[in-house]
Amino acid sequence: MTNSDFCGRDVPDADLVEGDPDVIDTVPAQRNGAYSDSFTAADSTPETDNDGQAPQSAPAGGGVPHDPLLIYGQENEDPTGAWSKHTKTMERTGVRTMARRLPGLLRLAWSLAWEADRPGLIALVTVRVVSGLVEALGLLAVAGALTGLLSEGPTPDRVREALPALGLVVGAAVVRTGLSLVEGLLRSRFGPRITRVCVVRLLDLATRTSVMAFDDPRFVDDLDAAERGATGGRDLVDNAVDVFTCAVRMVAAGGVLSTLHPILLPLLVISTVPEGWATARSARLAYTSWLSRIRQVRRQFMLRNYMTARSCAAEIRSFGLGPFLRDEYTLLARDFEAEQLRVGRGQARYRLIGESVSGLALGAVYGTLVLLLDSGVMPLAAAGTAVLAIRTGRGALSTALNSLNDAYENFLYFGEYRSWIDEAARRVPPSPAAAAPASPEAVRVDGVTYSYPHTGTAALRGVSVELRRGQVVAFVGANGSGKSTLAKVLAGLYVPDSGTVRWDGVDLAGVDPDSVRDRVGLIPQAYTQWPMSARLNIAVGRVGRLTTDGPDSVVPAARATGADDVIDKLPHGYDTSLARQYSSGHDLSGGQWQRIACARAVYRDAPFLIADEPSAALDARAEQALFNLVQELGRDRIVLLITHRLASVRTADRIYVLDDGLVADQGTHADLMSRPGIYRDLFTLQARQFVDTPDEDPDSASAPARERR
Ligand SMILES: Nc1ncnc2c1ncn2[C@@H]1O[C@H](COP(=O)(O)OP(=O)(O)O)[C@@H](O)[C@H]1O
Ligand SMILES: [Mg+2]
Repeated sequence: MTNSDFCGRDVPDADLVEGDPDVIDTVPAQRNGAYSDSFTAADSTPETDNDGQAPQSAPAGGGVPHDPLLIYGQENEDPTGAWSKHTKTMERTGVRTMARRLPGLLRLAWSLAWEADRPGLIALVTVRVVSGLVEALGLLAVAGALTGLLSEGPTPDRVREALPALGLVVGAAVVRTGLSLVEGLLRSRFGPRITRVCVVRLLDLATRTSVMAFDDPRFVDDLDAAERGATGGRDLVDNAVDVFTCAVRMVAAGGVLSTLHPILLPLLVISTVPEGWATARSARLAYTSWLSRIRQVRRQFMLRNYMTARSCAAEIRSFGLGPFLRDEYTLLARDFEAEQLRVGRGQARYRLIGESVSGLALGAVYGTLVLLLDSGVMPLAAAGTAVLAIRTGRGALSTALNSLNDAYENFLYFGEYRSWIDEAARRVPPSPAAAAPASPEAVRVDGVTYSYPHTGTAALRGVSVELRRGQVVAFVGANGSGKSTLAKVLAGLYVPDSGTVRWDGVDLAGVDPDSVRDRVGLIPQAYTQWPMSARLNIAVGRVGRLTTDGPDSVVPAARATGADDVIDKLPHGYDTSLARQYSSGHDLSGGQWQRIACARAVYRDAPFLIADEPSAALDARAEQALFNLVQELGRDRIVLLITHRLASVRTADRIYVLDDGLVADQGTHADLMSRPGIYRDLFTLQARQFVDTPDEDPDSASAPARERR
């Protein structure tokens, strides 16, 4: 069983090291130690300043100083993002807080397990209780056997007398072993189910929340934490089962002890307190340290990812970036090592104190036992049983403490998951019963403003546009002028802050957003290269059609956009994998991918087509073919084309010129060319690039003036 650390790597859970407090103490440290690679370049530990930060003067590769501001830029004050909430929680993480939160924690674990696997949970609890009872029975049988063996008389008689009790001892051990096997089986059924329930819930919400949520960095950050926290649910249940198991064992051992002598039980409980204290302090030390290192951990993770990513490989080599990145990573990793050492020392100190005091207390327990024996209050057989019960009780108690600690930590991780789930559910747009017009004649946007979350300026500032069926409308304008944002408002992906979007007079604010999106075929500027077959990469446009129209229904769409030329050359045609990260996958060029992205929108066959810079990577011939297709589709659809290739918007029925979130101008090509303005400037600039002027002065600003003269 494993826990995921911050970077999603797995670290051993307490289960693997159950019953060994030494190892338990190191678990949080291992969680910290996600980057304990043997990085041989780092052969000496650099000095660290008071914050544990690497010294600013230490040079990164290529002599770049290790200055976070210089390298990473200005960052948010709060490095932990979603995790900052924990700092406050952890500050209060003492044994008392944990005890207070215990019921809630166990309740949560119970309800999770109940939801994931009701019969399994009932079976598990039953097995545990029965096993505890059998353990108590076994301990009492030991007392019986010892009484028999230690009684007066010849040895064969004593053995004979002890035989039934010995049989019981052996029987109890066998039954307990059997039950623990069943328990193991039940747990292996539980864990994956709980993870599935949690992860599927997360994925469901992640794909249903409004796309606007994903523009909110906080939401995305929290999603990151929630993904890691999702596995915390499984661990939490595991910990809770451990705690319950130990509780049953303790009750069994305690019950037996109290039948032997009432003073033994309280003494035993007191003797484990120092160890509990040490465990809680150690875990807290590791956790707070980990929280304080989150920024570094993230940077390390990011550097590692980029250094090993296929997409960066060429640039890293071409720019000779390798040594710089490697040295920067090494510095962060060394810094981290120093911190781990500090945590390790602190934990060793706590353990030393805890175990020394605990040892003394245990001495007192055994001393009391000797006194009881000596004064004849307790017979030898009972004392022998007491020793066994004390060992069982102490073992169970210390495992319970460790599991509780882990449970608390997993509770915090899982808390991230739960709060994200609540937040995401709030961000799922409501679905009114009314549907958008099935085949709109006119789409009107009136006075729409839209601001991205946490940005000071509006991306759209009172924009009004109109699109009609049978027309091709074009948006042109500089980068960042708001074209893609307006396209997403039109596609029903963004809900404007103010203003209206109407389809045939129906305000989209009052209709089911799914019905709006159903009528829209979008070629987004940033499309996805799905790591799936070429066929599916087209069929994602309307994946249900694969079943209704058959797998070959993608062929006409591919043909219309020239994607078939690309696919025909692939070794398995439409069944070729485009998952280039796998050895069986085939990569395509940017333009080849773009043809496939266009084929998706054609396959979608929607009454409203939005193409956002669909030809940016296409070759000249493919581009011409695409614009012809757009014209053709525009005959019986509403078509919106966003492009910087102004030659291809000349034929558009209407052109909107966007500038800084406003509609600066509108009209046909002829209208816009007839008056000075952005469009005429841009068009003339582009057109001039195609005019053959070999002798032109490189300082071309004066060239038109000369021509005019
Ligand atoms: N996801 C986003 N989060 C914050 N700001 C954004 C986001 N996307 C775009 N913007 C900003 O909104 C403005 C308009 O962007 P966009 O509509 O993509 O421009 P265009 O498509 O015309 O190049 C730009 O200033 C851009 O920086
Ligand atoms: Mg854009």
